[in-house]
Amino acid sequence: MEVIIKKNYDEMSKEAAKVVKKRILKKLNLVLGLATGSTPLGLYQELVRMHKEEDLSFKKVKTFNLDEYYGLDPDHPQSYRYFMNANLFSQIDIDLANTHVPDGLAKDIGKYCLEYEEEIEKYGGIDLQVLGIGSDGHIGFNEPGSSLGSRTRIKTLNEQTVADNSRFFKNIDEVPKYAITMGVGTIIDAKEIILLASGKNKSRVVAQAIEGPVTSQITASMLQVHPKVMVILDEDAASLLKKRDYYKFVVESVEKF
Ligand code: PGA
Repeated sequence: MEVIIKKNYDEMSKEAAKVVKKRILKKLNLVLGLATGSTPLGLYQELVRMHKEEDLSFKKVKTFNLDEYYGLDPDHPQSYRYFMNANLFSQIDIDLANTHVPDGLAKDIGKYCLEYEEEIEKYGGIDLQVLGIGSDGHIGFNEPGSSLGSRTRIKTLNEQTVADNSRFFKNIDEVPKYAITMGVGTIIDAKEIILLASGKNKSRVVAQAIEGPVTSQITASMLQVHPKVMVILDEDAASLLKKRDYYKFVVESVEKF
């Protein structure tokens, strides 16, 4: 696991965008796993800028989003399909047919989730998965207690997540209580993963995920077993890491070789 600590949110976002750009230039039909929430917004803004100013093309890129609220129409302003269209897809040259966000209105959920997994397989798996981390340690909507081998399925959101996400809704009662999410096992199958975290409110869970034991109580801790993970943090999110200085030293050393 490579831990990269940047000065602030802006620098964190730019660093992540640089990695995504590099991977797209290396493989034009990259299969990119995407996340929603506040954290990746800066990354998406930087990718839009790179598209407009540096000719970065997404024409052949395929995307798979981690999750979607169950019961929300894709046109609902708080749905993750709406978020992705508004914040990224409508501002770049991606073919919408190549973008996949779980269907929050799926009728036969079990069958739908299997098909989502099969669709990922069909494209040869996810090359690069972008992740945020919930304040309860979730990746996707894999709440504490989720099986570390889980696949795409419906999950019940816990109280912490509903409270965290209520900032996007008029009141807490409007926050959906269920979501369709890739499982921890689905996420771990990605060939490469970038986890982003910013702000003091993430510092405790970031330390648990990176330096604590691997546990289903903090599903992001499962990233420790993956061979190619880059964790990009700002100083605030990194502030409770015990080995902060070592991670910085490693980054400086890598630049030497
Ligand atoms: P946030 O959400 O980026 O809005 O903090 C992260 C997450 O829940 O995965």
